[in-house]
Amino acid sequence: MSAIITLKNVTKHYLEDDKNLLVLDDINLEIEAGEFFILVGPSGSGKSTILRIISGLEKDYKGEVILSKDMTVSDTSFVFQQFALLPWMTVFENIELGLFSKRMDEKTRHAIVAQELKQFGLEKFAHSYPKDLSGGMRQRVGIARALAPQPKIIFMDEPFSELDSFTAEELRKELLQIWVERKPTIIMVTHIIAEALELADRIAVLTARPARVERVVKNNLPRPRMTRSTDFFHLEDQLYQLIRP
Ligand SMILES: Nc1ncnc2c1ncn2[C@@H]1O[C@H](COP(=O)(O)OP(=O)(O)O)[C@@H](O)[C@H]1O
Ligand SMILES: [Mg+2]
Repeated sequence: MSAIITLKNVTKHYLEDDKNLLVLDDINLEIEAGEFFILVGPSGSGKSTILRIISGLEKDYKGEVILSKDMTVSDTSFVFQQFALLPWMTVFENIELGLFSKRMDEKTRHAIVAQELKQFGLEKFAHSYPKDLSGGMRQRVGIARALAPQPKIIFMDEPFSELDSFTAEELRKELLQIWVERKPTIIMVTHIIAEALELADRIAVLTARPARVERVVKNNLPRPRMTRSTDFFHLEDQLYQLIRP
């Protein structure tokens, strides 16, 4: 298998009070096509910064981010922690937004939006505005908008952190189902180790700031992951110890 994304010696400083603050310290990663890859690390370690660099949102860094040859940035989508929906647009219009960059007529666009509404159980809310939805429904719209253009890679920055734990659990299940059906590459960031273990094929464990890759752990727990099993707890402990030795 060849990597869909490679990071080579990625290093990043922010300027803070006239001083250079080292945030990312020589990050090297290879992510495979179709993989569910998660970066886990403490808050403030630099997780969002890595995701912003990989996705092209942040251009000021040293080192290299290499996309596989058949890929451009337009084959990627982003799901944000705070949902980032446009409040003056309906659910339908928010999902449709992801499609305007693709060359397609209105009829095709609308058919795709209708299909995503159905997939996410949002049909009843098509003409509602984001403010009238629960957090879980808003993030379903956020994910539907990201998926509508059929991206090869989806970046997700703590997409479930703003949700209560029951809703987060449901959305994780829905996301896994979609990942199995459509097989995009997913690159997600979280500070919750159990979430990483429930979802990921491989987990990059980051140190506190400045972020270095402490280790990349292969998650061989059989799917669907039994989140109350001894094996699960055992691996969870191991990951905790990597972060807090
Ligand atoms: N625009 C910025 N200017 C200065 N410092 C920043 C900026 N963005 C983030 N930081 C700092 O960089 C560190 C990493 O931030 P971030 O990538 O958001 O971490 P995480 O997502 O892991 O919580 C934090 O300590 C944060 O304060
Ligand atoms: Mg963050």
